[in-house]
Amino acid sequence: MLSLPPRQSGTTLTQWLYEELRRAMLSGRLRRGASLPTTRALAAEYGISRRIVVEVFERLRDEGYLHARVGVGTRVSENLPEDSLAGPVSPSRPRRAINPLENLAQHAVHGWPVRPFRAFEPALSEFPVELWARLTSRCMRRAGGAILAGGDSAGLRALREAIAEYLGASRGVACSADDIIVTSGAQQGLDLLARVLLRPDDSVWVEDPAYPDAVEIFRLTGAKVVPVAVDAHGIDPKIGRARCPRPKAIYLTPAHQFPLGMSLRLDRRLELLQWTRKEQTVVIEDDYDSEFRFSGKPLPALKGLGASEHVFLVGTFSKCLFPSLRLGYIVAPQRWRDPLLRLRRQVERYPPGLPQLVLASFLAEGHFARHLRRMRELYAGRLALLRSEVGSRLGGLLQIPDVEAGLNTPAYLLGSMTSREAVERARRRELEVWPLERYALARKDLRGLLLGFAALSDRQIRKGVTELARALG
Ligand SMILES: Cc1ncc(COP(=O)(O)O)c(C=O)c1O
Repeated sequence: MLSLPPRQSGTTLTQWLYEELRRAMLSGRLRRGASLPTTRALAAEYGISRRIVVEVFERLRDEGYLHARVGVGTRVSENLPEDSLAGPVSPSRPRRAINPLENLAQHAVHGWPVRPFRAFEPALSEFPVELWARLTSRCMRRAGGAILAGGDSAGLRALREAIAEYLGASRGVACSADDIIVTSGAQQGLDLLARVLLRPDDSVWVEDPAYPDAVEIFRLTGAKVVPVAVDAHGIDPKIGRARCPRPKAIYLTPAHQFPLGMSLRLDRRLELLQWTRKEQTVVIEDDYDSEFRFSGKPLPALKGLGASEHVFLVGTFSKCLFPSLRLGYIVAPQRWRDPLLRLRRQVERYPPGLPQLVLASFLAEGHFARHLRRMRELYAGRLALLRSEVGSRLGGLLQIPDVEAGLNTPAYLLGSMTSREAVERARRRELEVWPLERYALARKDLRGLLLGFAALSDRQIRKGVTELARALG
């Protein structure tokens, strides 16, 4: 309700109410556009006659402070009479009413709507928003107080169970709810692992090129990042051993190398697993977008290959559902569970309850599997279209490798143009592209662009490639 200071002696009730309401509006305590209580409610709250309140409201309305409309009630005017006296940038000008649903496009970090060739977003326009809204409302109504109270620092048990079931069926990882820690996206998973596993001067192998936000997380702990170049089959453990024989940890994206896209060949997976187990090196497997393989046999996770008690699997729902959900997970070996949970409790206590409950329902009721199937088909079509458009319009200039996975693809420059020049030219045409060199650590041989396709409609892909051909041609 509206809180007004008490009346001073010698002031009439009408004067008091008029002055205090006006003061509240001018100071911004009552914001522009804000609703006022009804005259009946205000009269009852302050124990005064309703006639006085009606009289004051009418005066304020006549003077332009308030406006009243049937069905909407009485609101503070968007323009107060004093505005004409104040300069255009008067610091004391009261703030506008806050409308959280206004200007939501500003919320999107990379801008909204998407432009070709946004690389890190799924097709958000295809997300089943109505279904998610229904589940959210149902979960909130049915869960009541239990979900409002604090939760488990490992995450909601029902969600961990649903994730374990999904990982068993789809990623070949036999695990239970007790092996899983729900995190705020993969990024928090990487942060928790880096802080628990690494000490200053420890060495960490990372693929070269690599996901920069993972590299940065490792550097923040004071660890030494050792880049190991990937070839057409991913990281080569022999090259890594020659550079740094005793790493404390290895960070990998074996299902779909970030950003080049190849998967780690089976013989290298086995060699890596055996050797790291013997050396007591931990492996951090970033499985960020493995849900999207469009051809060939599904590849189980490294964590699913057996003898992998030293492997941490990091997953996320950012790519397969939506990034602002901020939910992901770590499948952690039992001996590391307690230190990870202890750190989690210190930094965040537990993940937010309601989104976890909604996600658990989404998984348990089969919506997740359906959504993935639909998105896989959609993205496969979009990648095929991008490939054929690039082939026909940019044939001698760009080459897209044969990888059938993920939300984005590298496109290698074939001529003599540098990536920097290609990016500058593309950006002048409002295209969103990144040079592959941005992800390189030590190597100097990468020349190309990272192109997203998952978030783009067929029309946007065609138009984007036409623009890109104009830019690079
Ligand atoms: C390779 C890789 N790992 C991890 C992440 C982090 O994802 P999030 O923190 O949104 O779950 C990303 C996001 O783009 C990524 O590309």
